[in-house]
Amino acid sequence: MTSISLFIPVQPPRSTDWQPIWRELSGERLRNTVYGIPQPAFDLPIRTRKALGITIHSLMDPEAVERVLLSNKANYLRPRLAQRLLSSLVGNGLLSAEGDDWRTQRRIVAPTFAPGAVAGMAQTMTQCAVDNIARWPAGPAQIDMAEEATHTTMAIIANSLFAGDSRLTNPQASDYISQLLVVAGQARLMAVLGLQDWDPSPGMRRARRARNWLRQTLTEMVRDRGPDGGGDDFFGGMIRSLGEHFPPEQAITLAVDNAITFYLAGHETTANALAWSIYCLAAQPGLQEEARAEAIAAKSYPASERIDHLELLKQIFEETMRLYPPAPRFAREALAPDELAGRPIAKGELVAIWPWVIHRHRALWNDPDHFDHTRFAPENRAKLHRFQYIPFGGGPRVCVGARFATMEALLILAQWLCERRFTLPQGFVPDPVGSVTLRPRGGMPLMTEPV
Ligand code: HEM
Repeated sequence: MTSISLFIPVQPPRSTDWQPIWRELSGERLRNTVYGIPQPAFDLPIRTRKALGITIHSLMDPEAVERVLLSNKANYLRPRLAQRLLSSLVGNGLLSAEGDDWRTQRRIVAPTFAPGAVAGMAQTMTQCAVDNIARWPAGPAQIDMAEEATHTTMAIIANSLFAGDSRLTNPQASDYISQLLVVAGQARLMAVLGLQDWDPSPGMRRARRARNWLRQTLTEMVRDRGPDGGGDDFFGGMIRSLGEHFPPEQAITLAVDNAITFYLAGHETTANALAWSIYCLAAQPGLQEEARAEAIAAKSYPASERIDHLELLKQIFEETMRLYPPAPRFAREALAPDELAGRPIAKGELVAIWPWVIHRHRALWNDPDHFDHTRFAPENRAKLHRFQYIPFGGGPRVCVGARFATMEALLILAQWLCERRFTLPQGFVPDPVGSVTLRPRGGMPLMTEPV
């Protein structure tokens, strides 16, 4: 890798050395998982520490990550505590299921996310982007691109997976979902995903209302469609297949659990990836012009073929997810003793996998903090260890929506670039804040003008 970009995208400050545990569990460090990470983390293969009686190994070595996610995967489950809390929101859907239940559900939804099926959704994705842009001011204006990205990805999920059911697309639905996401995006991760009933704060009360509304609405939608699924769309197919594999009431509950899983997991992550991508483009006007020329040329192809003609934009998107992985950290729990990066791992200990740190690790990348999309040019990408770049995770539990997310992100970005030019407002610096996802705190207000 020889090409070095001059652009260093913003990142929160690091601490020079390891901090005592009380520091890590207080102040901004508690609210923001990517704030104040000690510099040595970006040099070491593994770091072990104890917090509140729990031993956590943070893994930065791609070989060790591969062992956890793939070659010794049977020994590592999603942490039980996180599962318990997560399931209060998404039940026993694909994200929280384990074992045979997980395998069956994954087989059921996999065909929806196969290449041909995702290509079939390209027109809907483009149309959602076009409809969203139509609501922007006609002339030059400052627009919060994080908000527009969320509206667009939400419309795409509702239209492509749930046949545009008006119960999910009306303004009240967007309000409820936003309330849920605002809370889910805060760093009180565990409490938040559990939406504990004892937390009386107004935000949590709103989130509980939103969760109840979402479960109720989706349960109504499943029951209205009946056991034959009521159509050949994703939702219908999922209801039908679940009915073939599980007893009727369990099938209905699982259909609701998975609908919530896809509705929530499916747009917040992609929306954040879009917000960070357009920031990186706004900060690099020359690169933005090149990407625009490519997007305009690709418009002559049908939507389903367009991403094959967006090679530069794809590299920019991948480099953006390296620097701003939408899921900055995820975890596993060891079922039995093991060894990772030369360190013994005991039964019950946690392993934290940090795309944020691995993607910026000094032993793995040249000039890791520089934006350089050519890292993902085909000849360079082939040289990467497959577990050193893991925005979608890896192994059998790799993100099932990765292809869907990449297609929609490229189509939305291409549509934005064809219609508008983006610049950073004077003095504006985005503020990355990490929890379940990596959001720009305060949004991504950019100056836009018609092309
Ligand atoms: C840029 C966008 C996205 C990113 C970066 C992302 C990231 C991830 C990651 C890292 C995981 C694995 C977590 C782990 O191993 O613990 C995951 C799992 C998952 N994602 Fe995504 N995701 C994105 C978009 C989507 C979309 C669009 C959907 C659905 C429409 C989706 C649905 C899921 C589901 C259901 C799982 C659980 C899969 C399983 O356990 O079998 N994601 N995602």
